[in-house]
Amino acid sequence: MSKIVYEKYDGGEVTDAMLAEASQLFDENYGIWGSNAAKTGAFAKPQSRVRLSKERLRTQYLPDGAACSYVRVSIEGRLAGNAFACRWIYHGQTVCWITQLVVHRDFRERGVAATLLNQTRQQDDDIYGIMSSHPAACLAAAKAFGSGLSAAYLDFIRQHAGAVMEASPIGYIKNAKLRGSLFDTEETNGAVSSVYTQFFVDHTEPLEALAWVREGMDWPLGELLDGYEFLFLLPVRRRGRSSSRSASRSDAVS
Ligand SMILES: CC(C)(COP(=O)(O)OP(=O)(O)OC[C@H]1O[C@@H](n2cnc3c(N)ncnc32)[C@H](O)[C@@H]1OP(=O)(O)O)[C@@H](O)C(=O)NCCC(=O)NCCS
Repeated sequence: MSKIVYEKYDGGEVTDAMLAEASQLFDENYGIWGSNAAKTGAFAKPQSRVRLSKERLRTQYLPDGAACSYVRVSIEGRLAGNAFACRWIYHGQTVCWITQLVVHRDFRERGVAATLLNQTRQQDDDIYGIMSSHPAACLAAAKAFGSGLSAAYLDFIRQHAGAVMEASPIGYIKNAKLRGSLFDTEETNGAVSSVYTQFFVDHTEPLEALAWVREGMDWPLGELLDGYEFLFLLPVRRRGRSSSRSASRSDAVS
């Protein structure tokens, strides 16, 4: 039997040593730059690994003053995956946004991402969000935070995504441009719920995953275009909203 250990930290508890391990996990497992990588920046070379230093992890994913958290899992003493999240308030609602999610290649497709996200959950979260080029990241979020990915969430995304993201303390979320037919009915490029982040990573693997996922379900978020990521947001469903706080929260997001 394998020894699997999940650990959760507030942003302020995350040490440089933890970030060094997270940086290594990212560098070795995230993915490679695509052919248009130069549009992201001169540092991005096509076919080379996408890298993230421990310094950038701290400044971008655990910025001072923001309520961030970090969950990681070790399997047999090896770092097998991790998730960074950031929380902020939108219309009195607590938004929990997954800012990074990586699972080591040796441990994929066995529920590690969904469990990491499940461990990220907090009782008073009202809205969850993620931007990702990988359909499995959206599926994992839908499983951990809701009842699976479906078109039922599209109306909520259309109504709230822009304002929720505008309220974010994380620059790349605040500045991401909403794209897709959900936000612009004239859009004909196949994107439905996307953001244009100019993150020109290679999409070979996520597109293969998307093709596979589409064989088994009606994928609601549309096509994955170069430089784009999927956008997925969902409200927390609570049973028995009897308190006045719950009632007013429910009014604000529905
Ligand atoms: C995306 C990623 C985190 C998923 O991790 P994982 O541990 O394999 O995911 P899970 O096993 O929890 O699977 C979640 C869902 O995605 C599906 N899935 C996972 N990998 C898949 C693949 N390659 N193709 C199709 N479906 C896949 C699972 O079947 C599961 O679906 P279900 O809920 O319907 O059963 C991992 O592939 C990864 O680290 N990719 C590179 C980095 C990246 O793109 N991160 C996202 C940026 S935020």
